[in-house]
Amino acid sequence: MSAKVLVVMGSDSDWSVMESCVEQLHRFDIEAEVRVCSAHRTPEVAHHLSQSAADEGYCAIIAAAGHAAHLAGVMAASTTLPVIGVPIDSSALDGMDALLATVQMPPGVPVATVAIGKPGATNAAILAAQIVAVANPEMRARLDDHKATMASKVAAKDENLRGRVSGA
Ligand code: RP5
Repeated sequence: MSAKVLVVMGSDSDWSVMESCVEQLHRFDIEAEVRVCSAHRTPEVAHHLSQSAADEGYCAIIAAAGHAAHLAGVMAASTTLPVIGVPIDSSALDGMDALLATVQMPPGVPVATVAIGKPGATNAAILAAQIVAVANPEMRARLDDHKATMASKVAAKDENLRGRVSGA
């Protein structure tokens, strides 16, 4: 059975950022259930999703929101699953507000907060895969492949740039 992750976001307007998260999860063969729910606009739905996530068999929750982004913290309040928070750059403050609201959790209720926007969305998926890989050698092998692919791309860029600079 493949691992599954619950991905929640505060609005469908966050999807343009979070699509890359779900694509990355699928590349690792992780199933993603995607839901829109809001800490402020639909708090009961957020609470229910969080409370039932472990029994539903999810390995982790990825929660993305912009502005005063309390969604990841609200999800973390009602579960012992790891919660990964993605601050979305949808506000006048370009996500700095969401970053601080997501990362500055009080002691006892952690949210693993990644970078603002698309880089964070991708890293949230990789972090979820790393959580799964602790007890799953196949996932660890996929992550090893991922790292090897990144390294070979950097090596190719290095070679290419050195060739251009030296005029070879
Ligand atoms: C946040 O407010 C959402 O996560 C989104 O980033 C932002 C704007 O939401 P919409 O007004 O587009 O629904 O709660």
